[in-house]
Amino acid sequence: MIKRSLEFARQLILDSLQDGDVAIDGTAGNGNDTLLLAKGVGDKGKVFAFDIQKEALENTYQRLIKHNLEHRVVLVNTGHENIKEHVTDKVSAIMFNFGYLPGGDHGIVTKLESTIPAIEQGLELLKENGVMSLMLYPGHYGGKWETDGVLTLVKNLNQKMYTVLHYNFINLQNFPPQLLVIQKKKNGI
Ligand SMILES: C[S@@+](CC[C@H](N)C(=O)[O-])C[C@H]1O[C@@H](n2cnc3c(N)ncnc32)[C@H](O)[C@@H]1O
Repeated sequence: MIKRSLEFARQLILDSLQDGDVAIDGTAGNGNDTLLLAKGVGDKGKVFAFDIQKEALENTYQRLIKHNLEHRVVLVNTGHENIKEHVTDKVSAIMFNFGYLPGGDHGIVTKLESTIPAIEQGLELLKENGVMSLMLYPGHYGGKWETDGVLTLVKNLNQKMYTVLHYNFINLQNFPPQLLVIQKKKNGI
């Protein structure tokens, strides 16, 4: 079966992780992706999860507690445009799931001006063979602007350094989510 975008992203991210790795969730939200990363990095690994909303980090914390995995995660209450101020390790996986907090204030959304530096900083921190997933939602107000801006950025990444996949259901109506997956190449080959 063809996997839905988010499911496919989660599979690729999990496949890229090993015990002891460091990973980043650039948009913690309700903690589903943070939990996946926390499982993937094992007990010796670490996840940094960013969100600008305290409510999101609280939801994420509660989800982690239910699985006894909170000790693997550092919750950071700031924008992902500040990733490099908080993470210095090289990372194996980074997830971004843009847009608004499901069940929260739909007026608080990710914005292109912070999304771009977040992606750029994430790419710098990514290890060789490391994977970044980007879920984009062109359907909400401002979402198409963000999606187009991110597409322009990733289409222009050096092909010697990055493999870029665009996973998109092109016959769906009403602006379906789009997935981008970027893998940093080994030795720039
Ligand atoms: C679609 S939700 C994330 C869903 C989450 N990954 C999950 O698994 O439940 C998007 C989140 O991005 C957050 N956000 C918005 N702007 C942000 C920024 N500049 N830095 C970090 N998070 C941001 C929102 O507060 C919201 O919680």
